[in-house]
Parts: sequence; C-alpha cells; structure tokens
Amino acid sequence: LSNGIAEREKTLAMIKPDGLSGNYTDGIKKVILESGFRILRERVVQLDENGAATFYAEHSSRSFFSSLIKYMTSGPALAMVLEKENAIADWRTLIGPTDARKAKITHPHSIRAMCGLDSEKNCIHGSDSPQSAQREMSFFFKEMSSVHLLCQQLYVQF
Ligand code: TYD
Ligand code: MG
Repeated sequence: LSNGIAEREKTLAMIKPDGLSGNYTDGIKKVILESGFRILRERVVQLDENGAATFYAEHSSRSFFSSLIKYMTSGPALAMVLEKENAIADWRTLIGPTDARKAKITHPHSIRAMCGLDSEKNCIHGSDSPQSAQREMSFFFKEMSSVHLLCQQLYVQF
C-alpha cells in the first residue's frame, strides 16, 4: 500500500503494576518516543483474575502462573499501542530479557534493567509476534480488532 500506514507495524506494550506504582511511566515514555515509536493508544487498566489469566493463557500450566496472576492484578497497569517500522521486534529488544536481574547484567540499558526486579516483577510487557500483537491489542482496545483495522485501511485506501 502506498498510504504509509500498512508498513507501520503496531505492538502492545504494558507498564505492569510495579512499573506504574514505581513512577517509571514518564521515564519509559521518554525512551519510547526517543526510540522512534508513536504512542497510538493508551489506557490505564485494572486487570481482574479472569482478565490476567486470559491475557497470559499460554502460561496457564506453568508453576509461576498463580503468582503471576496475583502480581498482574495487584494494581493498575498502563496498556499502550506503539507504532513504528519493525515495532514488534524492536520493542522486545528495547525491553530486554524476561529476568530483570539478568537484564541488568547483559542488557543494562534495557527498560527491564532500569525498572524491573526479577523474572516476575519485570515492569513491562511486549508482544512476541504479529499474532500476539493482534490478540493483545484487541484485548485492551476493542477498536483494534482485525475487522476494525481492515475497515480502517479500506477507508483510507478508497
Ligand atoms: P514470558 O512470556 O516467558 O516472558 P516475556 O514477558 O519476556 O515475554 O513470560 C510472561 C511473564 O510471566 C513474564 O513477563 C513474567 C512471568 N514469568 C514469571 O513470573 N516467572 C518466570 O520464570 C517466567 C519465565 C515468566
Ligand atoms: Mg511472552
């Protein structure tokens, strides 16, 4: 497409409860913008058990699952849709490895190194694939469902 919209990839970012309560939001947004992302949407959300379990359904059989759900429901989080060329992979790189303790050693400039604590309380989320990004964006932003996005693109095209 020549309208400049199709090649801009979108991903779902979320500042987790410890990130939000630890006042990292402004610092994280600064990094986001300085790294060339646009913040297309943002919304403060309070996940309940059902919501957190749905969002992390792929991990439901893992030993850390119940602890993860407890953490993710412990307070408000900030969900964001970020847009940029290669947004999904670049955002994963910017947030760093899952375990924030490791991130501090191997990726000291990553967001998890800056504001995370360990492999659970790692302050920030990023979608890991185009499929996850689509599912997670429409989880928090109903208007980002694939049907809506398709209509939006057709509308721009014609
Ligand atoms: P995962 O998808 O493996 O990591 P990422 O967030 O980097 O994609 O795991 C999802 C979340 O589950 C992770 O952000 C925090 C939590 N988690 C734990 O609490 N303990 C663990 O050992 C792992 C691997 C993840
Ligand atoms: Mg993951």
